[in-house]
Amino acid sequence: MTLNIIGIGLNDEKDITVKGLEAVKNSDFIYLETYTSKLQCSFEKLEKLYGKKIILADRELVEKKAEEILDKAKDKQVSFLVIGDALSATTHTDLMLRAKEQKIKVNIIHNASIITAVGITGLEIYKFGKITSIPFENENIKAPYEVLKKNQNAELHTLFLLDLHPDNNNFLTIPDAVNYLIKQGMKEYQMCVGCARLGSNNPTIIYAKASELIKKDFGKAPYCLIVPSKLHFMEEDVLEQYKK
Ligand SMILES: C[S@@+](CC[C@H](N)C(=O)[O-])C[C@H]1O[C@@H](n2cnc3c(N)ncnc32)[C@H](O)[C@@H]1O
Repeated sequence: MTLNIIGIGLNDEKDITVKGLEAVKNSDFIYLETYTSKLQCSFEKLEKLYGKKIILADRELVEKKAEEILDKAKDKQVSFLVIGDALSATTHTDLMLRAKEQKIKVNIIHNASIITAVGITGLEIYKFGKITSIPFENENIKAPYEVLKKNQNAELHTLFLLDLHPDNNNFLTIPDAVNYLIKQGMKEYQMCVGCARLGSNNPTIIYAKASELIKKDFGKAPYCLIVPSKLHFMEEDVLEQYKK
């Protein structure tokens, strides 16, 4: 019948849109992906608001057993909830494509994503270059640093997404990510912005030299890191507020 792919925002149960909530309330099955971010509330709080049970979907279920979700959506209303926005991970675009191939109606409901939430740093969204991810196992990985160099040459900011396994409460930390970049060749005096829990009521955002950022405590996950490039004076003004 229908597969709703619904972004539920980055913070808690109250970030879902009115449209999203209506779709959830009309659904027979509700899946929640648990691998691209971490909400600042429990899954039980979502169930209480929705008045429905949710099925937790780890990366393996969505990547390898998507048929389980799609089979149900052939004759039932199914909602697939994404922390953040509906389509800011390739796995979810793949799910949408596969549903369409099987002639299942797809309904996309958007929300805020980490890609837009970084606006709180004052850095202009349209001055970011390619986004890149730093994995846990990064000893022999060159690609993220290469992306940084290319973005810097083009005077564009770089957003680093940091690897995470929320199910095991395992997150690559901001100091780990900065240390990785320093080992690759980034200067210790490079100014960086470390961000934790963006979209929540109490995000931690610190703008400091790389050598200082590695000593900071960012509190609970999730985390990302930005290396800004050339700054407009308004970007500088906002970043000043995050110097600690
Ligand atoms: C594939 S991205 C997409 C996350 C989410 N689905 C979205 O729409 O924003 C995953 C990465 O975003 C970052 N991230 C997710 N939520 C975050 C948050 N609230 N604060 C800071 N970084 C976050 C982490 O670095 C994580 O590795």
